[in-house]
Amino acid sequence: MIQRAAPLLAATVVALIVIAATPAPVSTRDGVYTAAQAADGARLYAAQCAMCHGRMLEGTFEIPGLGDRFIAQWSNAPLSNLHDYLGRAMPQFAPGSLSPGNNSKIIAFLLQANGLPGGSTALPADPAALSRVMVQPADPRLTAGAVPRTQ
Ligand code: HEC
Repeated sequence: MIQRAAPLLAATVVALIVIAATPAPVSTRDGVYTAAQAADGARLYAAQCAMCHGRMLEGTFEIPGLGDRFIAQWSNAPLSNLHDYLGRAMPQFAPGSLSPGNNSKIIAFLLQANGLPGGSTALPADPAALSRVMVQPADPRLTAGAVPRTQ
């Protein structure tokens, strides 16, 4: 019995080594920002974004909230898309006025506010690094039917 299982065991070990050697696709569920970044991001949000998007990210009739609908909207796309959008379009009264590093801090805060965990590695500001992080909501049901956003 043990002899017959040995090849299978060997194949399993090889498969596990291959899986371990392949860089895992990182998603926003894996703790991609630090608590310090989120705290800085909260201050930036309060000063630059809250007057339009609301203190509780609730939005208004004309301005989108930055909660469930927002995170579903940007899901299944790399975080670099959202970072790029913020750098080009927000804050709406002065688009492009925030540094890439500050936009990463604001994203850290938005991820935290949407229930996504922090971790020990800081969220980068470099587009190539951000393109390897997929946006996934904390609640998998929020992606149902969501269209990948490329804007
Ligand atoms: C003057 C009001 C105003 C300010 C200030 C502002 N926004 Fe916006 N924001 C808007 C409006 C209006 C839209 C919708 C634009 C559109 O659909 O083209 C929007 C859209 C967005 C979106 C896309 C929402 C979605 O559902 O896809 C994000 C993300 C965003 N803003 C983040 C921010 C952040 C972060 C800040 C602060 C740095 C900020 N905004 C500051 C008015 C504002």
